[in-house]
Amino acid sequence: MLDLLSPAQQDPILSLSIAFREDNRAEKMDLGIGVYKDSQGNTPIMQAVKAAQQQLADSQTTKSYVGLAGSEAYNQAMTNLLLKGTDGFSRSAAVQTPGASGALRMLADLMYLAKPITTVWISDPSYVNHKPVMEAAGLTVKFYPYFNATTKQVDADAMLDALASAGPDDVVLLHGCCHNPTGADIRPEHWQAINELAQKNGFTPFVDIAYQGFGEGLEEDANGLRLLADSVEEMLIATSCSKNFGLYRERTGAAIVIGKSAKEAGNAKGRILQLARATYTMPPDHGAAIVETILTSDELTKQWKDELDAMRGRIITLREGLSSALAARTGDNRFDFIKEHKGMFSMLGLTQEQVAKLHDDFGIYAVGDSRINVAGLTETRIDYLADALIAVAK
Ligand code: LMR
Repeated sequence: MLDLLSPAQQDPILSLSIAFREDNRAEKMDLGIGVYKDSQGNTPIMQAVKAAQQQLADSQTTKSYVGLAGSEAYNQAMTNLLLKGTDGFSRSAAVQTPGASGALRMLADLMYLAKPITTVWISDPSYVNHKPVMEAAGLTVKFYPYFNATTKQVDADAMLDALASAGPDDVVLLHGCCHNPTGADIRPEHWQAINELAQKNGFTPFVDIAYQGFGEGLEEDANGLRLLADSVEEMLIATSCSKNFGLYRERTGAAIVIGKSAKEAGNAKGRILQLARATYTMPPDHGAAIVETILTSDELTKQWKDELDAMRGRIITLREGLSSALAARTGDNRFDFIKEHKGMFSMLGLTQEQVAKLHDDFGIYAVGDSRINVAGLTETRIDYLADALIAVAK
């Protein structure tokens, strides 16, 4: 049986981390996978997370099972973080999942269960795992134009034109903030236009929000999602604590559904739990227990928000530093988009050959579509990166 298998294709992001580890060059620079690094190049455990971890170590009395939905206190806290104050809040239900990837898959399976003919519209480009996850669930995937390669911003006209043909059998997957891989975010007026289209044509919005707090702020980054949650009857949300709590390896996320009524949302939650039982049964506990401990303590919540603000501030400073270093070298503002982008990533618009040259000649690891993780850069390496970019862009 196993001899029938053809070799697996390498994941374009995860394979970079392995190649980086094996690279012996002293000057190498990892701008591949979306992981935040401090000015020493480390990915530290946040102080609020450390404190919560200590509390848990001291107070936890059992490692017995929690339940199919994970911790309900965590689910409530995650729902509060995204939806509090919206109309959809009282019509929502949440399930703790293994990372946002687990949430994406559970929601994809739910869509297939409810309506196998569903087409999921994904931005072009999008997070590399969106299409595989949706297709693995049996759904059809279609792309909507998103990124203008010249302005390096969202091509809102083309996006809205395409979405105007999405209807009741369609689900439109949107990035809540900090678009992966481009860094170009949807502006408030275009969230409003999407909202109007959803209501007029009946498609279901599905928001993947994996970087809340990394763009403009914890509240600001949820504004697009909240606008939709205030108006649409049904909506799906996948969220993650990997980045904003720095809990990457703990696989901590949530799937949230908004239904026409609380009863419908509750029913959808029941079906997700059934799907989870047949997939992984229960989500891992540790990361969610940490998040629950933080979000149910005023003191730890404040500490966490302060740390998150500092991370965001540093990414913004790195963006400004790289834009200025490039402006100093080119004498123009063609790289200003880097400081206008939001979150961890920027798509530079380089060709595959230029990305390969960054790797071969400079030891700089970027994703093949020319996505760089700005949060992987350190202050002292900005000039090195700027020189390399100028050299390959020639
Ligand atoms: C990324 O896009 O770098 C991260 O979200 C890691 C992943 O899951 O691919």
